[in-house]
Amino acid sequence: MSAWRAVCPAKINLALHVAGRREDGYHEIVTLFQAIDLRDELTGADAESLTLTVSDPSIPSDESNLVLRAARLLAVSVPGARDRGARLHLLKRIPAGGGLGGGSADAAGALLLLNALWGLELDREALVRLGQALGSDVPFFLFGGTALGTGRGEVIRPLRPIEERPLVLGVPPFPLSTPEVYRALHAPLTGSGPDVTVPRLFLKLAEGNDFALARNDLEAAAMGMRHELRAFRDALARSGAELALMSGSGSAVFGMYRAGTDVSTIAESLRGACPGFTVRVSKTIPSGIEIDPAATA
Ligand code: C5P
Repeated sequence: MSAWRAVCPAKINLALHVAGRREDGYHEIVTLFQAIDLRDELTGADAESLTLTVSDPSIPSDESNLVLRAARLLAVSVPGARDRGARLHLLKRIPAGGGLGGGSADAAGALLLLNALWGLELDREALVRLGQALGSDVPFFLFGGTALGTGRGEVIRPLRPIEERPLVLGVPPFPLSTPEVYRALHAPLTGSGPDVTVPRLFLKLAEGNDFALARNDLEAAAMGMRHELRAFRDALARSGAELALMSGSGSAVFGMYRAGTDVSTIAESLRGACPGFTVRVSKTIPSGIEIDPAATA
């Protein structure tokens, strides 16, 4: 019986620019995605039917879970995947609703894992197309490392990974809903998309490992909904972070520090800065999802 394991890292957004709202309801964005060393683990073994169990009971294991949606999408799109089964188990470590891309990472992990388990031999281009149909953040996780995202975030240009940086993550006790945060922006309809200066600026930030000018345009909307986010982000900035920002549409905020900074004492001093926040030490990573044969699943 064959079994595979996909180790799926979370992401932060080192910068996020919203150019405006589109006719289809999505927003046109430019963003710098960065993989980090906080990982979910998906295992899958051959089975008669398709089933999913999740280590965290607060995460749905039904058809609303992107892992099962990815499997169903493969089954209807790829002839070799029709009527195939798999027993999938998801070990969750990435907090949900934190803007850390956990669900999207798991979906990309499911595509890669089932591609191997079912011997489909889909190339990355085909997987990216399926990922785009599953969610705006999914394609990034098929690359990992550092990447520029445009369109609704689903058009990926992989970049040379930035140098490894230590991070402190602040994960609030409340999730934020991506559609609600985007709606709270009240962005005007876009004309012809973002002007080319923003992608150019973001490429320069990544190339120069200098994030002093990085911004997240969703921060003000999210902080208008939950003022604790601003308090924690400001505490991170005061603690010496070179960049203190909300990730994606929130609710997690992160501080990124100069290479070599000992962030464990900083994290310790930030515990208690905002009641209920979970404070974690992490770091940026140059890689993405890793899949390998598993002994059992
Ligand atoms: O693509 P995904 O399913 O992850 O998007 C979830 C929701 O987030 C969308 O339905 C939309 O309301 C909002 N969104 C957006 N603009 C983006 C990405 C997401 O408005 N670029």
